[in-house]
Amino acid sequence: MNEAKFVEHVDFIRREPDEMLARSADFLDLMKCRRTVREFSDTPVPRAVIENAILTAGRAPSGANKQPWHFAAISSPELKTRMRAAAEEEEQEFYGGRATESWLQDLQPFGTDEHKPFLEVAPWLIAVFRRSYDVDETTGERLKNYYVHESAGLAAGFLIAALHNAGLATLTHTPSPMGFLNELCDRPKHEHATMLIVAGYPADNVTVPDIDKKPLEDISSWL
Ligand SMILES: Cc1cc2nc3c(=O)[nH]c(=O)nc-3n(C[C@H](O)[C@H](O)[C@H](O)COP(=O)(O)O)c2cc1C
Repeated sequence: MNEAKFVEHVDFIRREPDEMLARSADFLDLMKCRRTVREFSDTPVPRAVIENAILTAGRAPSGANKQPWHFAAISSPELKTRMRAAAEEEEQEFYGGRATESWLQDLQPFGTDEHKPFLEVAPWLIAVFRRSYDVDETTGERLKNYYVHESAGLAAGFLIAALHNAGLATLTHTPSPMGFLNELCDRPKHEHATMLIVAGYPADNVTVPDIDKKPLEDISSWL
């Protein structure tokens, strides 16, 4: 017999089409203002804001509700300095030969290079880890997780949207490879760093690459 337990979904807020349309347009406007920035201010941001954003990320759907993610929130200046040194070491190799010519060509519009000062300047770095499996604390048994990449990616999307909604700029940084994040964040081997979200106020008069987003007809089909 199926012993699944259900509760009434009392939190659902029913909205009529007019209100729905207005809210969807407002949210689109909000998200249109989200841009990746690569220069940050060192102005502090309260920890509670980051906690709320991580709690929002934790509300993402996940395969069998395994919630196969971990967020390491870093504000320690000493640790940020070590992060920068480790990331720049990897990035020097990436830009100095490991990246293919076509990859470097694709990165050209963003003006990125091996220098990552934002890792020290921004008040918060949030390392996102996916957990390929969980470990039972008493028996040590491996517990399988499902759709780990998809679930962690969704949670990271929620995180970025929550930080943006709070009024923070973000940078999705993927130093390649990023195994060093396990050591610096003291995370176990069965967790894999997927990205480092840099968060804070943007630097004064920050600029962003002049890029376009695809129109609806290019990203959707209606059947
Ligand atoms: C998975 C992923 C990895 C990324 N890695 C980097 C990175 O390592 N360094 C960087 O400067 N930007 C990185 N970005 C940011 C993208 O370059 C940026 O999102 C894209 O150019 C679109 O710009 P926008 O975010 O302002 O819309 C990454 C974005 C994603 C989603």
